Amino acid sequence: MIQTSKITQHFTTGELAGQSILESRKTIGDLEGVFRDRAAWERLDPSTLVYRVQAHQPVAEGVEGGLFWGATILEPGSVGDEFFQTRGHLHSRANRAEFYVTVAGLGALILMSPDRVTSVEWMTAGSIHYIPGFTAHRVANIGTEPLRMLACWPSDAGHDYETISRFGFSGRVRRIDGQASLILE
Ligand code: F6R
Ligand code: MN
Repeated sequence: MIQTSKITQHFTTGELAGQSILESRKTIGDLEGVFRDRAAWERLDPSTLVYRVQAHQPVAEGVEGGLFWGATILEPGSVGDEFFQTRGHLHSRANRAEFYVTVAGLGALILMSPDRVTSVEWMTAGSIHYIPGFTAHRVANIGTEPLRMLACWPSDAGHDYETISRFGFSGRVRRIDGQASLILE
């Protein structure tokens, strides 16, 4: 039998197309507590789009042994001296790893180890990033164009947002003297 894939990946825009793609969006108003400068966050229009996530989930969430494929498009922008960024999370099954691939734009992948050591990998078109298990991850757009990236993760990984919203990362990427820098807290 010869079949054509029902899901396609656009390699310029990073967008997924096809039936049953799940889509979610996060606005400034959805991201309370994510940015250190609360006053700057409050000054922004809460309906401002920060990022969109598309997911291709060929098996149900929680199934062991499957994989998910996702696209994230993170707009350029800033909140105080921080860049627009994702909420960040651990995986609920914390040992589950993940790949990120940058399609376009300039980003910072912020990683935090279980002993709360935070590090950064710069993201540029074509860069591949392996996120080991037990590692909290968040992405910031440090450029002036949308940051377009792809992700592949196990279908039983799940998402633990609670730990990061309670304890945060131990470092943040901030614009210091015009340059994106990792500032440890
Ligand atoms: C999946 C994954 C990405 C993120 C996406 C948005 O495990 O890491 O698909 O979910 O980039 O970031 P969060 O989920 O932190 O809002
Ligand atoms: Mn993840």
